[in-house]
Amino acid sequence: MDILRTREDFQVQHLWGFLPQELLEEIRRISRSLSHEEIELHEAASFGRWVLHDHPRLTEVQTGLTSFVSELAGEPLEPSYNFLSLYSRLGRCPIHMDAPQAKYTLDVCIQQSQPWDIHLSQIVPWPEAGIEGGSWDDTIRNDPELSFKSYALKPGDAILFSGSSQWHYRDPIPSPARDEFCDLLFFHYIPLGTGKLVNPAQWPEIFCLPELAELPEIRRHSCQAITRWQ
Ligand SMILES: [Fe+2]
Repeated sequence: MDILRTREDFQVQHLWGFLPQELLEEIRRISRSLSHEEIELHEAASFGRWVLHDHPRLTEVQTGLTSFVSELAGEPLEPSYNFLSLYSRLGRCPIHMDAPQAKYTLDVCIQQSQPWDIHLSQIVPWPEAGIEGGSWDDTIRNDPELSFKSYALKPGDAILFSGSSQWHYRDPIPSPARDEFCDLLFFHYIPLGTGKLVNPAQWPEIFCLPELAELPEIRRHSCQAITRWQ
């Protein structure tokens, strides 16, 4: 599993004015043209957002960025999945760390009513010890050793971070009484050649251990057509 870990000297990359204006406008047009059938509503209550996974044009853009992101990350990568995330005024992104399907995340700001900071910890080796008692999320957020830093994106900016090895969160969108919003695009990448390894449903086959298929966590993955993570 070592290939799924992130090296400790990986540096977050804030790319100001990353998306050309023309492409930014094209993605906004895609966002505006989405039908009710295309939009996924399953995270409307939990995250205050509508999402769209793996739109063909966005997948094409993501694929075209693979070499560039590989260079930034310092290792050869392949696209994992992508999604457009349209946060409403109720938008929230509680602290979390992603599964290895999102080892590297290129988070692109498409448009917003005002900057919505993302907070990133330093690289954390995993697995971690459990946190005893209290509020685990506050404990992580307030841990000075995790050295959280805040980043504000403007439309067209992007930030590259390691979602599977950095705790990250956004506070609830401020001023919920107003018409606030934030449209973000997430391109997730994994190390080249690890498409099966990042999917637990594949482990019985790739490790030649059919009995793994009986583990509840692996059965859960096997029952899902695709596993998606925030
Ligand atoms: Fe995430």
